[in-house]
Amino acid sequence: MSSARVLVVGSGGREHALAWALARSPSVAEVLLAPGNAGTTPLGRHLPLPAGFPSTAALEELAWTAEALSVDLAVVGPEAPLAAGLGDALRARGVAVFGPSAAAARLEASKAHAKAFMGAHGVPTAEAVTAVDAGAAHAAVEALAPLAGGRVVVKASGLAAGKGVTVAADPAAGHAAVDALFAAGEAEVVVEAFLDGDEVSLHVVTDGGAHRILPQVADHKAAFDGDVGPMTGGMGTVAPAALLDAAELADVERSIVAPTLAGLRAEGRPMVGVLFFGLMRTDRGVRLLEYNVRFGDPETQALAPLLASDPYALLHGAATGTLASVELAWRPGATACVVMAAEGYPGVPRTGVPIDLPEDLGAGVTVFHAGTARDASGRLLSAGGRVLGVTAYAADLAAATTAAYAAVDRIGFPGVHVRRDVGARRRRW
Ligand code: GLY
Repeated sequence: MSSARVLVVGSGGREHALAWALARSPSVAEVLLAPGNAGTTPLGRHLPLPAGFPSTAALEELAWTAEALSVDLAVVGPEAPLAAGLGDALRARGVAVFGPSAAAARLEASKAHAKAFMGAHGVPTAEAVTAVDAGAAHAAVEALAPLAGGRVVVKASGLAAGKGVTVAADPAAGHAAVDALFAAGEAEVVVEAFLDGDEVSLHVVTDGGAHRILPQVADHKAAFDGDVGPMTGGMGTVAPAALLDAAELADVERSIVAPTLAGLRAEGRPMVGVLFFGLMRTDRGVRLLEYNVRFGDPETQALAPLLASDPYALLHGAATGTLASVELAWRPGATACVVMAAEGYPGVPRTGVPIDLPEDLGAGVTVFHAGTARDASGRLLSAGGRVLGVTAYAADLAAATTAAYAAVDRIGFPGVHVRRDVGARRRRW
């Protein structure tokens, strides 16, 4: 029976996909969005985020609102409010939360901390050095670049919406990335050995004790076709992506997932919500690149249409320590999500341009809005870097990709940038 009231916090494509899935749940009577975007308007009531969000006072105010509205489940989409303590503020008011404490969210909020945690718990990862000054970071580039033919990865330690990472093709580019980060005010930089292979987004929903592994997703993080250009938050995803075979997945569960969840429990900060493991499948085994303490974006847009069982049951089960008894089922077939990005993204995006978005884009196609807004006359405008996630569900990956691109080709806005090779680049699936 539909009775639950759910609050989805966030304004991106991931939150649109979560709200879309929850609105279709047989358990959910009402979806609230704070703040939502132009595409989420039909799904439920929108609440403005309190001024100054995510300041402590604003988190408190949102938690108070959720309590006053008798919200049965709050689902926090983005990492920044989780790192600032929104999960804790909501729990303190008795609201069930899909999302970790600030203490657990540190695994994403500080890459330096994440690397130290991986080391302490024996989780296989790339060799890395955390540097708090440019001299040490430059020395790390010199030390680590020879391990991978001169390539090296330079990361801002703090939150950067997926854009603080440079995969440098040679040491000179690594040094330039180091200088750019420190010049931008970064206090801590992680320099990592480059790992070659296929990247896998593995989401593990957990209530702190039990955990459930979701279908593998392949993201396309570089801005341009063929995986070149600057790193973005993700230009497209496909699921399920059988990048890891059953034996490899079992090994990842044993050597990466289990020690991580046990380590967090042992440290008194169990993960509640989803831990998204950014993995690299290399010739020498699977390595963990990074932790994210929330659903991926645009991974969620590819996962949501595949879920056959009740999304509320899954998220509520994780939030309330009852995950072990939740039924979890997936539809056959596949999804592809193609991101339509603004001119300039992942740099400063051009915004405020009108979007031509036809209503009916074909069976199985859902357009998840990310950076969109409406002007006073109701016109749909771009309002961010990633504007739309055009997602198609079909019998197989080839059909899903074809349907997604057919829909993309009917949508337009000036300066739009789309990768044309979503679903086409991996060695295995
Ligand atoms: N798509 C990568 C991320 O959400 O971090």
